[in-house]
Amino acid sequence: MLSTKSIDQISPSSYKDFSSDIKELDEYLKRFAKGNHKKNIGKTFVLLHEEKVIGFYTISMAIIDFNEISEELRKGLPRYSIPVARIGRLAVDVEHQGKNMGKLLLMDAFERIMEASTSIAAYAIVVDAKNERSKKFYERFGFFSYEENPMSLYIPMQTVEKILNS
Ligand SMILES: CC(C)(COP(=O)(O)OP(=O)(O)OC[C@H]1O[C@@H](n2cnc3c(N)ncnc32)[C@H](O)[C@@H]1OP(=O)(O)O)[C@@H](O)C(=O)NCCC(=O)NCCS
Repeated sequence: MLSTKSIDQISPSSYKDFSSDIKELDEYLKRFAKGNHKKNIGKTFVLLHEEKVIGFYTISMAIIDFNEISEELRKGLPRYSIPVARIGRLAVDVEHQGKNMGKLLLMDAFERIMEASTSIAAYAIVVDAKNERSKKFYERFGFFSYEENPMSLYIPMQTVEKILNS
């Protein structure tokens, strides 16, 4: 049985063996995620399978510069900083990669952000891809690269809404 929970609802023993093969992401989960959740720096949600964490993501609020948005999407937007939500980290344990768990986590994040954005405006969701492989994963779901930084990507909330309603 799979379930998602916020990290403050689970014990560290459920993620002590987590490995996504990206050390920085594993360390974040093990050392900083719970503390940052409490301090309102980043909210972490985990995917559990038999009481073990097999994936997680962290979300927070952010802004992006008008100039970082691609030209075709700029039309009608104000020329100052644009409010967005950030998926700071998203990772699946190596043993569970390639089984749609990343997609499940991304859709969970989309739903959570969509709900929050009914009260706090977010024009888009942004992510920083750690490598080419994760960049392709995000592009598969309709994320665009920033104009001047191809490893940072964003997806307009209007597209997210369509994905969730499809
Ligand atoms: C990137 C990552 C989160 C993907 O999770 P995953 O569980 O392996 O991927 P899924 O099985 O959910 O794939 C969902 C869909 O994306 C596609 N996909 C997955 N990885 C892909 C890639 N690198 N390139 C293109 N498509 C990809 C799958 O084919 C699948 O498509 P489908 O819906 O048509 O079947 C996972 O591999 C991971 O944790 N990697 C290490 C950490 C990392 O790089 N995180 C991202 C940066 S923060």
